[in-house]
Amino acid sequence: MTVENEQQIIETINDIKKQNGDKLVILGHYYQRREILTVADYMGDSFELARRAASLDDAKYIIFCGVHFMAESASILSKPYQIVQLPDLDAGCPMADMARLPEVEKAWNTITEFIPSSQIVPITYMNSIASIKAFCGRHGGAVCTSSNANILFKWARQQGKKIFFLPDEHLGRNTAHNLNIPEDKMFVWDPLMPDDKRIIANIDAVELILWKGHCHVHTFFNVEHVNYIRKNFPSAVIIAHPECTRDVIQQVDYSGSTSFIERYVKEAPSGSVIAIATEINMVDRLARQYADKQIIPVARSLCPNMFKINLPKLKTTLEQLGRYNIIEVPQSVRQDAHRALSAMLSVVQSAQ
Ligand code: 13P
Ligand code: SF4
Repeated sequence: MTVENEQQIIETINDIKKQNGDKLVILGHYYQRREILTVADYMGDSFELARRAASLDDAKYIIFCGVHFMAESASILSKPYQIVQLPDLDAGCPMADMARLPEVEKAWNTITEFIPSSQIVPITYMNSIASIKAFCGRHGGAVCTSSNANILFKWARQQGKKIFFLPDEHLGRNTAHNLNIPEDKMFVWDPLMPDDKRIIANIDAVELILWKGHCHVHTFFNVEHVNYIRKNFPSAVIIAHPECTRDVIQQVDYSGSTSFIERYVKEAPSGSVIAIATEINMVDRLARQYADKQIIPVARSLCPNMFKINLPKLKTTLEQLGRYNIIEVPQSVRQDAHRALSAMLSVVQSAQ
């Protein structure tokens, strides 16, 4: 797209925004392309955007610039008169797709042969499909995001319960370490493993069952990348998103959600050198926005699904408000998924 074209599209988008006023809201995740975030009304992490979607009473049209599970969560939290649209329905999340309902129910049935269901609570990462959120809602569980996983894990443990965590093994493990849950109290549930190998040894001691799912964008980072930064940028503070593997998290200075990273960079003094292990569009934007600081990627890793949303697709969506790429969640799923999302919102609110 030429600069001129980009400018024309931005003008059209801004005209449509002006015509619709408060009736139209564009939400953009931190991993979106720079130009998308220039036209978004709100930018945030997955938790902030879900909370925002739940509080937008005046908006009739909520355009979600992010991936499918995020728009789906916004739709579940929206009011009956609101319509959520995603500019590209193919913008999915491979990690969310790693936990499908039949496999999860099969796992739950097996696990609850060993552990009474009253003693285990399912918690799913926001990065999951709606039917998995609904599964958690049906079984007294909740949703969490990387910005509040510690809080939700504590909530479960205060009830004296074990946790069945879906679908990100690495966020689950990193959160457990934050809470001093030792490695030998974690069990990784691999849905691809044959049934006869899935014997949970020492089940009474297990505190956390982790679904074997991962984000390819974050498991891309490795210890060699971190060592390279340490050697070549000795003054750099290194931050990694908790979807990175444990060995990487152990080598960096801080680990936190996208909102943690955003805040850290914003508040760092001028001249700071900060290396970041997360999606490259976010790192590049921060580098441009905070030019008085040296912001560098630990390595360049792009989320191809976040990248699917671009200005022409956003314009097409805005030209067909309420008619195009609508995110609809069946009522049967919606109710239980809403329960799991609301549990997260209220647990986080009472912890603040
Ligand atoms: P946040 O919850 O930090 O926004 O991250 C979402 C995500 O998809 C990370 O890969
Ligand atoms: Fe999914 Fe990873 Fe992309 Fe986040 S960065 S949307 S977890 S694939």
